[in-house]
Amino acid sequence: MIQKNMNNELKRKIERFCRKNMGRESGHDYSHALRTLEWTKEICKREGIKRTVDYEIAAMLHDVALGLCTRAEHGEVGSRMVSKFLRSKTDLPEKRIEAIVYVVKWHNNKFRAPKLTKMLKVVTDADTLDLLGAVGIWRSLSSLEAGQLNLSLDLLTLKKHGTYDEENQGDRVSNTHSLLDQLTFQISSYETMLTESGKLLGQPLVNFIKTFRYMFWNELGSKYLKRYK
Ligand SMILES: [Fe+2]
Ligand SMILES: [Fe+2]
Repeated sequence: MIQKNMNNELKRKIERFCRKNMGRESGHDYSHALRTLEWTKEICKREGIKRTVDYEIAAMLHDVALGLCTRAEHGEVGSRMVSKFLRSKTDLPEKRIEAIVYVVKWHNNKFRAPKLTKMLKVVTDADTLDLLGAVGIWRSLSSLEAGQLNLSLDLLTLKKHGTYDEENQGDRVSNTHSLLDQLTFQISSYETMLTESGKLLGQPLVNFIKTFRYMFWNELGSKYLKRYK
């Protein structure tokens, strides 16, 4: 019989595997795995999913390769790592391993996946929830280099042009632009959520981060405009 939750031994093995490999990229240390796990449990509860163990394993392991390869490849590389890990360190049946590995492989490219499985939907929604709210803002900031954290006059230029969402995309010279750009990207991820429970959980979080972006923009913009006009 499939157990409902992860047992302690499995938990410890996964924890060791995550700690060993994660943390080389900003916002993606071991705590991201734990937060994604908690969101996954919450979505499962609300979606009426009873046997959550495979969902939990996929949540913990989804980003294990981030920092070990290019960002674009981390799903693919991670899926190979997870496949090897689960086959050698656990006695999970083949079918269940395949379903977990599938989620890791496609989580960063879900709309290209051959099939949007329920597990893929839940884990990617959980992953997205960690980009929103207060944690999302913190992750935006932590993605910047220390020197980029100054509140610079570059914001004025952006104010004149207005469209900080599209303008100079990919041009990471202006620090504040980088932050707004990053926040905008995170906010837009809400639109790609796939489960009703995930969307419901994400609503206050996306509103919060939108408010922060709005306040940040207006407070800084008006202050600089007054002083330098
Ligand atoms: Fe990822
Ligand atoms: Fe993630």
